[in-house]
Amino acid sequence: MTAFKPRVFSGVQPTGNLHLGNYLGAVSRWVPLQDQMETIFCVVDLHAITAGFPSSAELQGATREVTAAYIAAGIDPKKSIIFNQSQVREHAELAWIFNCVARMGWLNRMTQFKEKAGKNKENASVGLFAYPNLMAADILAYRATHVPVGDDQKQHLELTRDIATKFNYDFAENIKELGLGVPNPTPSPEVPDEIFFPLTEPMIAGPATRIMSLRDGTKKMSKSDPSDLSRINLTDDADAIAKKVKKAKTDPEPLPSEVDGLKERPEADNLVGIYAALAGQSKEEVLSEFGGQQFSAFKPALSDLAVTKLSPMTDEMRRLTAETSEIDAILQDGAEKASAIAEPVLKDVRRIIGFLEVR
Ligand code: TYM
Repeated sequence: MTAFKPRVFSGVQPTGNLHLGNYLGAVSRWVPLQDQMETIFCVVDLHAITAGFPSSAELQGATREVTAAYIAAGIDPKKSIIFNQSQVREHAELAWIFNCVARMGWLNRMTQFKEKAGKNKENASVGLFAYPNLMAADILAYRATHVPVGDDQKQHLELTRDIATKFNYDFAENIKELGLGVPNPTPSPEVPDEIFFPLTEPMIAGPATRIMSLRDGTKKMSKSDPSDLSRINLTDDADAIAKKVKKAKTDPEPLPSEVDGLKERPEADNLVGIYAALAGQSKEEVLSEFGGQQFSAFKPALSDLAVTKLSPMTDEMRRLTAETSEIDAILQDGAEKASAIAEPVLKDVRRIIGFLEVR
């Protein structure tokens, strides 16, 4: 190999409802990438057990629902590999190896662990602590070069780069000796001239990298928020969407005409960002249309737009989940294609580390 093949990898956890943040921050942004490079989209069910085991019916239902959302959003199984993580053993194997590459200090700094573990850190699962190592394994089992995600995953992607860097550095000699390296695209005196894992580029861009709660513009829109009014779920019908937008928290001022005027106005900023992302516009463009108007005029326009954009997806998700065979066949095909990429990568990793091969 003379260079890393451009390859996208991303995923969503099958835990609870998919919401507008998942769609605008991640899945919708994957769609155009399918025509630009090889794309792999995973339903990360191994991650979904880190905060407690759902019932098997819940886990299976959520795995199919996330897959349906991918397809309804425009991910095409003919163009992209779509699969669920547990079906490709290499993820778990590489995650174990990365447990031995990553340092406790690195993981101790992860803000998402602190948020998710809350006050009772002693009672969090070891899997929740090691979660970012599994995420690094997801990406690097495919030597993926690009990862499109929302802003909340930034720190995990920095860790992925740290793990890749340490592996490349610690095993530089073996990588070279076995002829498994790729010329380092960013050479410098401190790093090896041949590396095995790419330093993955995060793709975090656009007006919707961090969609906030509809009830509190300072909190991220999240599956785990106890208030269902805080988020728009991809399974919400038109009435539910209209109700949630109507009840969304705002301030008493009209919308500003310039993006600068959204500073210190988190709720207004969030709703404008949502409108922009749904309409495929910039915030500037939205404000050039709605600047000076009251929320009483903007909110109905926003809810109409959300319904127009989301309801065909919701209908398609309903159709796909009503009958499991189509989704299961897509996941099976995807798992075979994903394994065909990850298996040889792990074979190389075992050789680089020096595990004795007896078969
Ligand atoms: P998860 O399942 O929490 O979220 C899936 C994707 O949705 C994005 N997202 C948001 N974007 C904007 N605003 C929000 N309020 C919002 N909430 C969620 C997330 O950034 C993410 O892109 N660890 C990952 C899943 C994962 C993964 C991977 C991602 C596992 N392995 C490898 C990329 C590559 C997660 O928990 O996502």
